[in-house]
Amino acid sequence: MQVIIKKTNLKKATNLMTIGLFVVGVLVVGSSLLTNNVSSPALRGEFGNAYSNVVNDSGEVVEVGIRAYEDEVEIVNGYKTKVWSYNGEIPGPEIRINLGDTLKVNFTNNLPDETTIHWHGVRVPNAMDGVPGVNQEPIAPGDSFVYEFTPKDAGTFWFHPHVRGAEQVERGLFGTLIVEDKISKEYSQDVVWILDDIRMTDTYQIDPNFVTGGDLMHDGRWGNVITVNGTINEQLEVRPGERIRLRLVNTSNGRVYLPSFGSLDSKIIAVDGMYVKEAFDLDNFEIAPGNRVDLDIKIPKDSSGKTFKVYDYYTRNNYQLAEIIVTGSTIETPDFDYPVNINIPDWTDAINNDVDISFKLNTFSGNGGMGMMGGINWAINNEVFPDNSDYILKYNEVNILEYKNESFRLHPMHLHGQFFKVISRNGVASNENYFRDTVLVHPNETVRVAIVPLDKGEWAHHCHILEHAESGMMNTIVVK
Ligand code: C2O
Ligand code: CU
Repeated sequence: MQVIIKKTNLKKATNLMTIGLFVVGVLVVGSSLLTNNVSSPALRGEFGNAYSNVVNDSGEVVEVGIRAYEDEVEIVNGYKTKVWSYNGEIPGPEIRINLGDTLKVNFTNNLPDETTIHWHGVRVPNAMDGVPGVNQEPIAPGDSFVYEFTPKDAGTFWFHPHVRGAEQVERGLFGTLIVEDKISKEYSQDVVWILDDIRMTDTYQIDPNFVTGGDLMHDGRWGNVITVNGTINEQLEVRPGERIRLRLVNTSNGRVYLPSFGSLDSKIIAVDGMYVKEAFDLDNFEIAPGNRVDLDIKIPKDSSGKTFKVYDYYTRNNYQLAEIIVTGSTIETPDFDYPVNINIPDWTDAINNDVDISFKLNTFSGNGGMGMMGGINWAINNEVFPDNSDYILKYNEVNILEYKNESFRLHPMHLHGQFFKVISRNGVASNENYFRDTVLVHPNETVRVAIVPLDKGEWAHHCHILEHAESGMMNTIVVK
């Protein structure tokens, strides 16, 4: 890590100088050069305690063993696919704990490669975050490591390696961590659907050419086999009248999903693990790599015998993701308000505020040389990890970040250990009423986000198109 750049100060200094030049006689012009800043304490006040920094420890410790090893599983009927797995399962374990519990994971690496586990979206102590070169040494083949932490938020999270992720996640290393609160037990079913695509060969093996030039020129590796929970024909059985909580998790390297549940009443109640301010319809919600969406779905009481098909509409070839099959006798629909977080700040006034850090999403043009694997190197502010500047976020204050996508590709940007809220896209105020840990920045789009960092330390920050990250589109942000 090198020089610490604090863009605010530079920018403010220039503003002051400009104003200084105009100050005699042209006061009106001078003041119009000032941005319409809402004071940071006012914005901080609006945030209040929207998410808390303390959790009431239940005293319970949930201990889980995870071993990573090569195995064979059936993804496409009748074929055995060689994978890298957590505990021999694709997807890996679905760990469920209660908010306040401590999770202790005894992890053993029996892969032919070094690895780590990163707990995506979980506000863990920095040393548990699993990023080599930032938080921990890679775990060598044959070695073990204990991850132990008490999540501060209830919600839908997932975990995956942070070593050669483009290969290791594609080979099958991912699982989910569900932190339950009281309301999650009120649903008649609480189900996880992991959306993943795999690029397979003719014999249904995982194509061993990772991070190709083509993947880099495009939006990463998009597979030709699309799975839900590791199978191409996922079916969920429900009874008429049920109210289910369905947690969608996108673990794909590059693919974005735009799912539709047809005529089923499906409301988004949480994004990236955190409850939204007000439940809203799923329609047109893009689920980018890394994102999670929790749905509250009511199965009509008169639908016995029906099958609801769930399609993805992101690409031109719409395809069926899964089916919801209604059978059996009708049950009384659980009746309770949508679980929401009314404390989420609007921050509508923040749209004119100064940007604290600006990230240009671009390609690396240093050295004039060839990029990775005959493709290009993706970069942030023209720098590739680990040769990047350090960026600082002010602890417990409102910070404004800007992403300027200077390319024609997608970049779902993910910040570890923090949640942020989108305040504008291309200068237009955003109506997103929720926090995120990953935001999809579209080609040539400028997205501004506001964040109150409550977790100190150095955190990884990268594009969640894993090939882009692998080629260098990652840096670190220090919260202090
Ligand atoms: Cu899913 Cu660095 O993260
Ligand atoms: Cu990217």
